[in-house]
Amino acid sequence: MSSKTLDRALVLDAVRVTEAAAIASWTMVGRGDEKAADQAAVDAMRNALNELAIDGEIVIGEGERDEAPMLYIGEKVGTGKGPKIDIALDPLEGTTLTAKAMPNALAVMAWAPKGSLLNAPDTYMDKIACGPGLPAGVIDLDKSPADNIRAVAAAKGVAPDQITVCVLDRPRHAEIIASIRAVGARLYLITDGDVAGVIATTDPSTGIDLYVGSGGAPEGVLACAALKCVGGQFQGRLLFRNGDERARAAKWGITELDKKYDLHEIVRADAIFAATGVTWGNLLDGVTYKDGFVHTHTLVMNSSTGTVREVRMKRKA
Ligand code: FBP
Repeated sequence: MSSKTLDRALVLDAVRVTEAAAIASWTMVGRGDEKAADQAAVDAMRNALNELAIDGEIVIGEGERDEAPMLYIGEKVGTGKGPKIDIALDPLEGTTLTAKAMPNALAVMAWAPKGSLLNAPDTYMDKIACGPGLPAGVIDLDKSPADNIRAVAAAKGVAPDQITVCVLDRPRHAEIIASIRAVGARLYLITDGDVAGVIATTDPSTGIDLYVGSGGAPEGVLACAALKCVGGQFQGRLLFRNGDERARAAKWGITELDKKYDLHEIVRADAIFAATGVTWGNLLDGVTYKDGFVHTHTLVMNSSTGTVREVRMKRKA
């Protein structure tokens, strides 16, 4: 196994991990308790990880050790007797979506060889992403949304009003939203879940061409792992609200606080990405119980082989 490539057996291991988290959090769908839903996913993901023959370290997790008793950044998982890997995870991406039984909640994880994922602190990140098949450099975080829309439209040979942009519906995005409207593009507003929002740009059936706006930095790393597998472009810049957040970044070795990161600087080697649907969504079906069986739907991708699989699991509930 090359140091840049992960063992293929890890593909199915990743599926087992996100399946476990999705099933556990599904029991909390619609119960109005974000924390309990997240905790169920965290416990299940941690147990599943610790059963695996890996020497894993959480790089993107539930937070720092003092604030997250489980799956904290730096926590070692697995039996310690397998490949050395970096793990980025979000046991429940869309805690509010789950609590309110809304679509697109996912259990998400990515792994990559040790030292190859950006140690992004738990801050915000400014993001822009588009799907595969467009000229390199077509999007640029430093350009306005309107300029990016025009560039993507030109590259696709359509007018800007034929471009659809996905944005998190937040007051902080008022200017971005106004600028997208001004150029005449379609706006696809989401209430939560920007990992799925970024991935949607890679799937022509969603009609989404571009993702723009700020969201969690950890979610940015996870989205990059997915794009590493299916292609597409991503740029991100960490956003800091205070000195504490800057100090956190420094602690994880980030010295250039204003740096504009490209996808391949965020995920620096081949990666495996897995996501299991918790609630139903564009990307994946949610967990269901039927006739005494639990059913799950998982997307798993391996950038080293270029494989994209959809895995349907059924087992006795
Ligand atoms: P949680 O699952 O942690 O609630 O995150 C959901 C999410 O929508 C992410 O997808 C996104 O990156 C982030 O929250 C945006 O943060 P905010 O809600 O503060 O705008």
